[in-house]
Amino acid sequence: MAEERNLFFQGWQDDGHVKMYDWFSYFPTPLFLKQFEYFNELRLLKEYFQKHNMKEQKIYEVGCATGELFRYLNTKKYRCKYHGFDVSENALRAAKEKYPKGNFSRIKENTRQIFERFGQADVVFSRDVIQHQTDVWGFLDSLIELTRHSLIMRIRTRDAGATCLDPELSCQAHYGKHWMPYIVINTDELCEHVGKFSEVKKINILKSYGILGGDNKRFVPKELYFSEAGTAETSILIEKGPREGQNIEVNSIARSDKLRLSLFERAWLKLWLIKNRPT
Ligand SMILES: C[S@@+](CC[C@H](N)C(=O)[O-])C[C@H]1O[C@@H](n2cnc3c(N)ncnc32)[C@H](O)[C@@H]1O
Repeated sequence: MAEERNLFFQGWQDDGHVKMYDWFSYFPTPLFLKQFEYFNELRLLKEYFQKHNMKEQKIYEVGCATGELFRYLNTKKYRCKYHGFDVSENALRAAKEKYPKGNFSRIKENTRQIFERFGQADVVFSRDVIQHQTDVWGFLDSLIELTRHSLIMRIRTRDAGATCLDPELSCQAHYGKHWMPYIVINTDELCEHVGKFSEVKKINILKSYGILGGDNKRFVPKELYFSEAGTAETSILIEKGPREGQNIEVNSIARSDKLRLSLFERAWLKLWLIKNRPT
């Protein structure tokens, strides 16, 4: 198992990580597409592809895990130039075995390496990665630096109360033996931070509200266990370009992206998984 210098990153090398994040690869394609397209960040990505000539678009996925976004793009025949990056050796091995045509590379925890080796991409996509960083703002800055046009992420946010950046106080237990940071960012702080980048013109925020405290073995500040904090799984589009005025344009809406499968779909999925998922 690869050894990480930062213990907060060791969990990504665990075999449990592959088992957990390969879940979608056992979904039959119609349900996989239905679920993926229900996610707000996938809607943002689709909107981007509708406006641009995909063949010319270079897309980086930072934190690609076992490559299921590549499966989505391939199934939908989005012929963009995809490159997935991750810190997890195991997850990348699984991605390469499943999708030999995919372009996947390992990085150490510093995203700057991508910029130095491969330059910018038109779109950078990073789903559920930023909340697990020990340096949230530094990581976000490096993603913005990597982006030529649009950065699309799913992060965790709170409407009330300051961001707790201490990974000892805001964390989650993974795979039965590791702690990882679980940082919930205050949306106003996020907009203020992103607003400092003069090349950013717009930020679109889609919040899928839900209480984050306590779920999935989380140990987070107490107020995040209550609805008053306004926590959400939040999809974000950060767009670069010349600004209309002095400030960035901020658009924020609430849209739940928790897909409810019908009884029939759930039964079908269960049978499919029994048949196709290795034990
Ligand atoms: C919670 S998983 C999300 C995986 C995938 N994006 C998804 O939504 O299913 C986070 C992934 O990001 C990777 N990761 C964590 N920190 C990273 C970093 N600094 N740079 C690149 N990948 C990172 C982990 O190894 C893991 O595969």
